[in-house]
Amino acid sequence: MIATLSAETSADLIHARLQVMLADVVPELELLIKSELAAEINRLKKAKNAVILGHNYIEPALFHTIPDYVGDSLDLSRKAAATNEKIIVFCGVRFMAETAKLLNPSKMVLIPSREAGCSLAASITAADVRELKRKFPGVPVVTYVNTYADVKAESDICCTSSNAAAVVESLGVETVIFLPDEYLAKNVARETGRHIIFPTKDPRNGSNSDLDYQMIGWPGRCEVHEKFSIADISNIRKQFPDVVILAHPECSPEVIEASDYSGSTNAMIKYVEQTKAPRYLLLTECSMGENIAAANPEKEMLRLCSVRCPHMNQITLEDTLQALLKEQYVIEIPEEIQTKASRAVERMIAIS
Ligand code: 13P
Ligand code: SF4
Repeated sequence: MIATLSAETSADLIHARLQVMLADVVPELELLIKSELAAEINRLKKAKNAVILGHNYIEPALFHTIPDYVGDSLDLSRKAAATNEKIIVFCGVRFMAETAKLLNPSKMVLIPSREAGCSLAASITAADVRELKRKFPGVPVVTYVNTYADVKAESDICCTSSNAAAVVESLGVETVIFLPDEYLAKNVARETGRHIIFPTKDPRNGSNSDLDYQMIGWPGRCEVHEKFSIADISNIRKQFPDVVILAHPECSPEVIEASDYSGSTNAMIKYVEQTKAPRYLLLTECSMGENIAAANPEKEMLRLCSVRCPHMNQITLEDTLQALLKEQYVIEIPEEIQTKASRAVERMIAIS
């Protein structure tokens, strides 16, 4: 895990550290304001017995200052399950905060913005999953954590980008329904030697054809990762032949194939930390490149990224302070959904 300044309550000390790490990417006035906010949040979270979890995609000044833990979806789910503090503030998107609530229901879970959604989570409803189960009776449903709790409640088991292949293989069956990320499904199908069938281009209109399938997918896409193309990769390789390219598994199979490494956000961080390449390029959300670069100043990260997740971008220091002060916005999950969805998430945690 990248170390943060989560225990630091002096704005001056936070400012001095941020200047060293972020002076070339964040203007000085912004650094000053953000250091004050971070110090206030760090004092308040102690007083309120709160823990702050931060996803690898949150903006650099927030990422390096207030989260007690930073990490990928799986890692933060584990931290949420194990926390003893009364309040969990989730600096990430809504499906992540919901997952924390599913794993630790007695805690108050707060998300700083109501606008922090996700294009994958928005691509599928619980009714869609029920319809797929009706069409393919008895076929287990594996659901990516990037979904809302009511969709998880219709699923047998969840997965994240770091354990998707292991989860599919743990089921020991030939055919699975894998939802909702089309590209992740294709990448996992290839990794686990399965082939994938999309029952129809538009599953909402239905198709009853009898197909020989092993993985049944869904046409959901991450609006950030779908933008990377193999043309981006060949252009970069022409300019920097020695670059090592890392891609998140939500990228298309062609992009993954043309990259040097693919893994979850934590796996990419570990790869950069543990290897010695002349330079790296990350095909993932922009802020993460800045976050790794600041923590590893001796590594050269190509800063060519222009794709910021608009949902992660909603999470700010200002709103996190308001979340703690006003205890907003509380994640609430109806009991029946909580019971069923937590089973699917806990089953995933047990095997990975
Ligand atoms: P990770 O689980 O790899 O952190 O990814 C979460 C995500 O939303 C990627 O877009
Ligand atoms: Fe969702 Fe993509 Fe943003 Fe991740 S990067 S939260 S998958 S929209």
